[in-house]
Amino acid sequence: MSAAIEAHNLEKTYVTTKRGAGLGGAVKSIFKPDRIQVKAVQGVSFSIEPGELVGFLGPNGAGKTTTLKMLSGILIPSGGEARVLGYKPFDRNYDMLKRISLVMGNKQQLWWDLPARDSYAVLKELYEIPQALYKQRLDELLEILELKDKVDIQVRRLSLGERMKCELVAALLHRPEVLFLDEPTLGLDVVSQKRIREFLRGIHQEEGTTMILTSHYMQDVSELCDRVIIIDKGIVVFDGDLSVLASRFGDSRLIKLQFCEEIDEADLLRIAPSAKLDGVCASLEVSQEETATLAAALLSQLPVADISIEEPDLEEVIRRLFTGHVPRETTGLNS
Ligand SMILES: Nc1ncnc2c1ncn2[C@@H]1O[C@H](COP(=O)(O)OP(=O)(O)O)[C@@H](O)[C@H]1O
Ligand SMILES: [Mg+2]
Repeated sequence: MSAAIEAHNLEKTYVTTKRGAGLGGAVKSIFKPDRIQVKAVQGVSFSIEPGELVGFLGPNGAGKTTTLKMLSGILIPSGGEARVLGYKPFDRNYDMLKRISLVMGNKQQLWWDLPARDSYAVLKELYEIPQALYKQRLDELLEILELKDKVDIQVRRLSLGERMKCELVAALLHRPEVLFLDEPTLGLDVVSQKRIREFLRGIHQEEGTTMILTSHYMQDVSELCDRVIIIDKGIVVFDGDLSVLASRFGDSRLIKLQFCEEIDEADLLRIAPSAKLDGVCASLEVSQEETATLAAALLSQLPVADISIEEPDLEEVIRRLFTGHVPRETTGLNS
């Protein structure tokens, strides 16, 4: 089976003008603008099979939104190639547009001053959805998302979570085979985030929709995705199973100690040279293999009142990847 989404060395360089400070700067930038180039995406490649739900992660400004915009045909790449369901996204072939959808957490497509139902009616015409199918689909989506009593209210009067749910309905009315989700839970409260996650999981399982999801919330990704693609400064730094990521970079442990009384720092450092002492508490990061021996030595040689051993969480693992704590060549990309 051919891939649903393919990116080959996708690149995007934005050219913007730098505006000088103050009025003088503003005037100067009109007549003699300083052009600057921002290399937002620098040769991104990946391939996603039909029915996969892939997490697309990276710090702010990494190039996630730019990549999704190129894949959904909104932006022309500066270089490289992409295929979505076999189409070149930027041709914006009408047949492709009827089979994909893009949801952006920070940008709505519903008309702000109208009830969502009116926007849905326009989308129905745009996507040429037959009346019976439209009614059935809309009822189904409104039911799952508990929106029945919200769709006749002006969108601007809804809460952020309700608006996002309405956006999802709009994106799914035409049963897209590929769904690009850019921060769909951005700014939502924990309960709404959970509802949206459950909804997306349901759609993915029942309809086999291929999805790429970017999110700031690690929980979205860890609960929904098996595979993650991580991008930093426009370059893919990891592409693989979430479990591989956690085990490859999460093999350290954090030992936290509390002592019964003040101790001599030298005694602590003799056993654990990397430990940090703060009053009667200390913490140290060790590899998984040495955890047991070190913990035993600390317990037997120092007046320990309490000890805990913690695994780094996924967020921490990814933070390390970005801050260069983990050499990039071990990220498994080149292997
Ligand atoms: N329209 C634009 N003009 C100029 N620079 C842009 C534009 N959009 C994004 N950028 C820059 O491109 C880089 C990647 O942005 P973006 O794709 O939005 O990242 P992310 O979604 O991962 O936060 C950033 O440095 C951002 O400032
Ligand atoms: Mg973004």
